[in-house]
Amino acid sequence: MSHVLIIGSGIAGLTTALRLAGRHEVTVVTKDGVGESNTAMAQGGIAGVLAADDTVEAHVADTLVAGTGLGDEAAVRVLCTEGPDRILELAAAGVDFDRDRTGEWSRGLEGAHSIPRILHAGGDATGKAIIEALTNALRAAVAAGRVRLLEHTMLLDLVTAPTGPSEATGPAGSAVPTGPAGSVVPTGPAGSPARHTSRCTGVSLLRNGVHEFLAADAVILATGGAGQLYAHTTNPEGATGDGLAAAIRAGAAVSDMEFYQFHPTALAGSGFLISEAVRGAGALLLDANGHRFMPDIDRRGELAPRDVVALAIHRRMAEQNGLPCYLDARSVPEVVTHFPSIARGLAAHGFDLAADLIPVTPAAHYFMGGINTDLDGRTNIAGLFAVGEVACSGVHGANRLASNSLLEGAVFGARAAEAIATEFETRTGPIPEPSRASHSATAASLSLSTKLGSSSNRISREELQELAWTHLGVEREGHGLRTVLDRLGEGRPLVTDVEPAEFREGFETANLAHIARYIAAQALARQESRGAHTRTDFPTSGALSTRRPESVDLMSTSS
Ligand code: SIN
Repeated sequence: MSHVLIIGSGIAGLTTALRLAGRHEVTVVTKDGVGESNTAMAQGGIAGVLAADDTVEAHVADTLVAGTGLGDEAAVRVLCTEGPDRILELAAAGVDFDRDRTGEWSRGLEGAHSIPRILHAGGDATGKAIIEALTNALRAAVAAGRVRLLEHTMLLDLVTAPTGPSEATGPAGSAVPTGPAGSVVPTGPAGSPARHTSRCTGVSLLRNGVHEFLAADAVILATGGAGQLYAHTTNPEGATGDGLAAAIRAGAAVSDMEFYQFHPTALAGSGFLISEAVRGAGALLLDANGHRFMPDIDRRGELAPRDVVALAIHRRMAEQNGLPCYLDARSVPEVVTHFPSIARGLAAHGFDLAADLIPVTPAAHYFMGGINTDLDGRTNIAGLFAVGEVACSGVHGANRLASNSLLEGAVFGARAAEAIATEFETRTGPIPEPSRASHSATAASLSLSTKLGSSSNRISREELQELAWTHLGVEREGHGLRTVLDRLGEGRPLVTDVEPAEFREGFETANLAHIARYIAAQALARQESRGAHTRTDFPTSGALSTRRPESVDLMSTSS
């Protein structure tokens, strides 16, 4: 048995952990309580081909169309082919998907799907139902001694060591993932075989205010997205890109960093998500004059892909001096019955879903970019895997299809678990316990600030979020992107000098700033508009349709 360390407890992390429990020694590390994640907030549902009138080919085609030419077909095929079995397993684990009057699972429609194929639970509380089922299973595994759970434990950094000659080419039968051309950190000189140059041997953590190290044979990052980079986001407070930033610091190859998805319909001023499924049920989008504008822009109207609708709302808001647009669900039959959580959430903000026009704006929602992985979650660092939103497996291209994210976590979490189960068979030492570092969190922060950058690059969370919203948001242009790079520094990224009580926020802000620089650099390099990346100075899709921009290695720039 090997010691496998999983960081994160959304659908991807918990799927991986439960599949490995009992096959290896498994530790799950999670920054807040187990299951507190983006998954738990997912409303609309999980996409999958489970009905006779639907086909895997259609799901593949819809996913590739939404991805605007950058989706990896092999990865998309895996997602859509294996998805149905993962959904059946979720149901067997206790997720009670909603049924129609005939007793069949009811299927919702969302943007850019050619047929209703979104399963949901509790009307609009699908993520909560999934997390409850997986969390119950995890707690049972913990009680049975098959999983060790470390809650309220924050990942600081990955610990790596140079690889020996025998492992430089990865496990038998596996190729070392090189990522697409234009990976931010290339894995080898052009034309040379890709090689693992380092192995992940564990992590450094912050637990109970103490800086600890934990050794592992394999580390799986399932740390989710980084929506907290933006002033407006649907993501929870914990979505600060800790795993992604740590992976970049360790030398992981990342790509598609310019593609951040903005959900079209967050309640204005709050970030509260109003699921695309409400539009799938017939809700319309109106501008400040009450005009239904989406049919003027796209024949698919309110159910155009998410990037199209978010951009349309963003531009309409600019034309009406920043006033929000409106979601009109007043004519949707039984709308409160179908969307009870959304109705309750809106009521808490003083709106009646069945009777009011709901003011909506786009908000940062999902990171298409991330750590390059192969189809089993392997990265270019031996022993390091990435699954779910933190990974870039190629399934989403430049714009994720609605309700493919829970599916991605389940499918690729399972695949990574199977790869690890077979590749990591033996271990030579005892199962490691976390070991206390010889210095306190304050000392850790100081040593990390030395490692991460100079104090001259300090920035507050609020300033960073406004900077990102202004220059890395729905629309970008070259001058603004360079402004971000100038403000955040040309050298290695920053961390603020922080007291222990503020350590978490300071470290998270440093992680977000680190990621912001990569988004800015990749967005600057992509001189076209595509999917979720809209350049006002390069408004059309150009010659970059089938390749990534040139490599950008920000870690090699010295501070
Ligand atoms: C939604 O329900 O609109 C969000 C689901 C998703 O992000 O795919």
